[in-house]
Amino acid sequence: MRTSTLRTAARRALASPPALLRRLRPVRTIDDEYVAWLTYAIAGMQHPGNPYLLDLAVRLAPPAPMLEIGSFCGLSANLIQYLKRRHGREEPLFCCDRWIFEGSDKPLPPEARVSHAELRDHVMDSFVRAARCFSAADLPHAVEATSDEMFGAWRAGARVRDVFGREVRLGGPLGFCFVDGDHREAQVERDFAGCDELLLAGGLILFDDSGPGAHAGVQRVVARVARHPRYEVVARNPNHLVRKLR
Ligand SMILES: C[S@@+](CC[C@H](N)C(=O)[O-])C[C@H]1O[C@@H](n2cnc3c(N)ncnc32)[C@H](O)[C@@H]1O
Repeated sequence: MRTSTLRTAARRALASPPALLRRLRPVRTIDDEYVAWLTYAIAGMQHPGNPYLLDLAVRLAPPAPMLEIGSFCGLSANLIQYLKRRHGREEPLFCCDRWIFEGSDKPLPPEARVSHAELRDHVMDSFVRAARCFSAADLPHAVEATSDEMFGAWRAGARVRDVFGREVRLGGPLGFCFVDGDHREAQVERDFAGCDELLLAGGLILFDDSGPGAHAGVQRVVARVARHPRYEVVARNPNHLVRKLR
């Protein structure tokens, strides 16, 4: 390459560090056609690197229930359920979401002709339909609750009703947590504290939107977790999968 071309490439890369990082460290994917089908069939917000990280987490998690914070239409929940089957894991998946979305305090344009309430009903119905279709034999225990409410109920060992109408008792240790709810720093910090309290040694946490150029608040929390003496980073792709050491 000529020096001037190199200089231009370096200038462009420095102007956009996340793009440079992406080029240096390509996103790892898993070669599984069904995973691709799930991402086509279920609306969702999963980074293309997340199936690789979820696969790793499901394989490596110690034997205990798993928790997803933030489910939306159920893409990641059904991915986790499928990956559990692929790896012979039978631990139940719990999900929590109140299906109240960031930005839903701003009215939708009149031309949309739907209200936020209708949008929410549609997303919740989509979650239920997707789980009944793709995880029928192992429906996740999805609870209409914020993560703070879920952790409170978990600590209290409460009996709750999931969105499929089943009663379930919460409580006990967790093996894996997927943090994908409210991405504001203070909430992600509280979600980490809740997971940390319940995770077994060797337990894993995947932080969505924690890669370069993603959510600054999540990145700050993950930077602190990475320096935490009881945690190590297992993989970056570009989101972070971390393990509790003790
Ligand atoms: C980015 S979406 C989740 C995407 C989903 N995991 C997927 O596979 O597409 C964020 C979700 O978090 C939910 N949420 C927001 N604040 C929350 C909180 N405090 N606790 C639990 N869920 C929350 C929202 O209702 C929304 O459905």
